[in-house]
Amino acid sequence: MRIADCIGIAGRRRLAYADHPVTFTPLVGPLSAGLKLDESDIHIWYAQLDLAPECVVALTSRLPEDEQNRAHRFSFDRDRVRFVVCRQLLRVLLGRYLGVPAAELRFRFSGKGKPYLPGQELHFNLAHSGGAALIALARLQPLGIDLEQIRLIPDADSLVERFFSQAERLAFQSLPETLKMKAFFTCWTRKEAFLKATGEGLSFPLSDFTVTFLPDEPVRISNVRSAADFASSWSLYHLEPEEGFVGALAIPGNQWHLTARTLSVEQWAGELLPGSR
Ligand SMILES: CC(C)(COP(=O)(O)OP(=O)(O)OC[C@H]1O[C@@H](n2cnc3c(N)ncnc32)[C@H](O)[C@@H]1OP(=O)(O)O)[C@@H](O)C(=O)NCCC(=O)NCCS
Repeated sequence: MRIADCIGIAGRRRLAYADHPVTFTPLVGPLSAGLKLDESDIHIWYAQLDLAPECVVALTSRLPEDEQNRAHRFSFDRDRVRFVVCRQLLRVLLGRYLGVPAAELRFRFSGKGKPYLPGQELHFNLAHSGGAALIALARLQPLGIDLEQIRLIPDADSLVERFFSQAERLAFQSLPETLKMKAFFTCWTRKEAFLKATGEGLSFPLSDFTVTFLPDEPVRISNVRSAADFASSWSLYHLEPEEGFVGALAIPGNQWHLTARTLSVEQWAGELLPGSR
């Protein structure tokens, strides 16, 4: 299978998700000091994470000791780099919203590993894949975000059989082969975003709820442990920050106002990198 097949642009039929599209706009100028989030706002930031090694060293040395220790425990350089860059990006963004220096932020983690800032009316979540990251923030409700680079998964059919709900399995099997990989990651990211919003992670069985993922269906969650009203009180958004990537954001409640921006490393990391002062 070619990569064009994987990302859903094979042949004449494009796998387009047009229901309430979220548009990512490049940020113009540097990241401002006082970022403001109103109660109905959700802000989403998309950034590339692959940096030159000397920049990664500089970013690592500016992390608190516990996060440096975690960075050094990764077996693969690639994972360490992405953790460090993503963690610094998160710190810089949170610092701009809260008006505190990024280095002063101290994370806590829920029993299932979801990071949070105690005592702050600011919810956030992040995801990384394929050298890119998405970070989402809201004031009033916990939220979950997920991102995947679309790629060939040779055993997608068996993963679908194992983890997807019955309705999802039937919908997936109805698709032609050329559309399956994008559909797989669309479904997967929607499920993960929901689980990350609840903070449950994979301790909540993936087959206990259903998400839509066919291109012409409205984006929604249903049948969460058979409680229809529970699912309808959630919002789910389809995200495509750039071609070849798919993501999703889940949050309780409705009537949210989304703003999605892309950031370059110069716009957020200048003050932390060598030679920038
Ligand atoms: C941890 C989990 C929430 C997401 O993991 P993931 O998809 O590997 O990673 P993502 O990039 O989406 O998200 C990682 C971030 O989510 C956050 N996170 C960790 N635990 C979380 C939880 N319980 N709830 C919400 N967010 C969580 C962290 O900020 C983490 O970033 P960090 O490690 O740099 O601090 C969990 O669902 C998991 O283990 N998923 C496995 C996914 C999998 O098997 N995929 C196979 C696809 S075929």
